[in-house]
Amino acid sequence: MRKSKILGVGHCVPDRIVTNDDLSKMMDTNNEWIVERTGIHTRHWFTPGKDTITSLSKKATEVALERANLSAKDIDFIVFATITPDYFIPGNGVLLQRELDFENIGALDIRNACSGFIYALSIADQFIKTGMYDRVLVVGAEIQSSALDKSDDGRSSSVIFADGAGAVVLGPSTSENSGILSTHLHSQGQYAEELYCKDPGSSREVRLSPELIESGSFFLKMNGNAVFKHAVVRFMEVIQEALDYNKLDKSDIDLLIPHQANLRISQYIQQKLELPDEKVFNNIMHMGNTTAATIPIAMSEAWEQGKINEGDLICLAAFGSGFTWASALLRW
Ligand code: UT7
Repeated sequence: MRKSKILGVGHCVPDRIVTNDDLSKMMDTNNEWIVERTGIHTRHWFTPGKDTITSLSKKATEVALERANLSAKDIDFIVFATITPDYFIPGNGVLLQRELDFENIGALDIRNACSGFIYALSIADQFIKTGMYDRVLVVGAEIQSSALDKSDDGRSSSVIFADGAGAVVLGPSTSENSGILSTHLHSQGQYAEELYCKDPGSSREVRLSPELIESGSFFLKMNGNAVFKHAVVRFMEVIQEALDYNKLDKSDIDLLIPHQANLRISQYIQQKLELPDEKVFNNIMHMGNTTAATIPIAMSEAWEQGKINEGDLICLAAFGSGFTWASALLRW
């Protein structure tokens, strides 16, 4: 069966940079706490009226297409991972479809939060492996800053989440030795409420009301400690699962690109895998946690910095809301 391969990767983040000092003017926090507990120094937040999920993902897609030496007309299908779409209905895949010169191709939205990009990549991979499509666009994009409680009550989550978009173009590999080797997807719904956004939910008589807004139930809520404890276990499990499946060893990894949730989580995984600094790519320091967008943004930056080369074994891994977690191993 043919393999799929990443042909091009791009990203786009809003211009507005928010520092830890900026946050300390909105809530009771400080630079020292944020850097020590999360590793984040700055992040990008959108500008209302200027940036949208569609505009950010359009720019990321244009860069990915250019790097793949392809045009929108060459794309057969769109898989779009976001939990913060521009509209409640329809999904963001179709909004991107109308922005560029795509044919009337299918567009699918994936709502798997932090694992969303790897889930989306896995779906695109299946389409290419079976021969149904030749070139699939996979996007991860979020505007989280408008869902954050920027008062003292929300300070533990609002200092980590951020906005941005990343995109990859996936196509058939021309060599047996390169491409996506495997993807591994998991969920455990019993922990859904440890990281969730309750409203606007459909099981209310009215989805939006002044009372609901007053209650703050539309803010992202996270039990950070619980998420952290599960994350460090599941990241390791799902990376090991990918290595075992491919009969590879942790020492074979050339570059690990973990979901950028918290620098301490990445450092824990790095230590457990005994990987040197140059084999782990982190950009949470200046990007924050952009949920489904962290991995394609990081992959795009790593590629720009010459840290991804032909033949490299790249490991992607993510954990987040659901809980869901996932990994992908690919030979570049
Ligand atoms: O991407 C999706 C998955 N998400 C994650 O993987 C996130 C995982 N969790 C985390 O990254 C961390 O749990 C957080 C960064 C969210 C929080 O860090 P923590 O070290 O777990 O802090 P904590 O919630 O245990 O709070 C420790 C202390 C508390 O004060 P007391 O009770 O010890 O006096 C908090 O009130 O730090 C306080 N605190 C803050 N202080 C200053 C919490 N947030 C802040 C803040 N600034 N922003």
